[in-house]
Amino acid sequence: MHVVRTATELSQVQVMIPGPVHFVPTMGALHAGHASLISTAVKNRDADRDQGSVLVSIFVNKTQFNDKKDFETYPRNEAADLKLCEMAGADIVFIPDDDQMYPDEYLGTEVCVPGISKEWEGRFRPGHFNGVATVVMKLFHLSLPDYAYFGEKDWQQCRVIERMVADLNVPVYLVFCPTVREQDGLAISSRNQLLPADERPKAPMLFARISQCADDIRKGTDPRAAELEAADRLHADGFTSVDYVAAVDGSSLAPIEGAKPGARVLAAASIGGVRLIDNVPI
Ligand code: PAF
Repeated sequence: MHVVRTATELSQVQVMIPGPVHFVPTMGALHAGHASLISTAVKNRDADRDQGSVLVSIFVNKTQFNDKKDFETYPRNEAADLKLCEMAGADIVFIPDDDQMYPDEYLGTEVCVPGISKEWEGRFRPGHFNGVATVVMKLFHLSLPDYAYFGEKDWQQCRVIERMVADLNVPVYLVFCPTVREQDGLAISSRNQLLPADERPKAPMLFARISQCADDIRKGTDPRAAELEAADRLHADGFTSVDYVAAVDGSSLAPIEGAKPGARVLAAASIGGVRLIDNVPI
């Protein structure tokens, strides 16, 4: 496995491994969810006659953090990340530093995906999706992927990137992979390790409450009533703030008035000072 830290090193290594590039962008603190993205990429690489390479990037992108403390406390563990990449079968790991991605002369040029970026996460994390879209586009340009893999836990992020790729004719095939969960249902996330031990047992209630909400809507409950019920229950479960529980069209992310194919419940709520997000199909 090649570990590269600059754009020049990356292109030098890529020249040595021709064929399709399967790209898994991450912010490190890799876990079973990332391992499943990398394994899917490896499977696709190996199924292809032309083979090619699986490239993982690790970059904690400060421009997508609207909260400085969140950026500073974001877990980082390069040695463990490299081990996971190696075990999962990655060929190249690209670990640029801030100067590589945002050199002094960077003027702040941004990719903004309007509409779909505005609600839900966008409302509670202003500027977040501009940061995500911009860094993903930069990483696409640096790594020239044929395929790029994203986890469905960040449902809105998937839709924003999908829109960006379509609107700007980016020649990459996007692969969205299902959320990986702990046995108790908690969606696996790098932030889970920040949960205080006494709050951790309550965290899976986020998944439980939005699953119940989806179930109720499927059975005919009005979506707004089901959302309120789920939020009330989360507060009672010990979540300190519930930013949103939203029953939406899975593509446009607009609120729905009743169950329909492709609809989802999205939610964000905090417990023990850690903000968690999750989503389920209706
Ligand atoms: O999902 C993430 O880890 C990040 O938002 C991404 C896509 C790597 C961009 O920094």
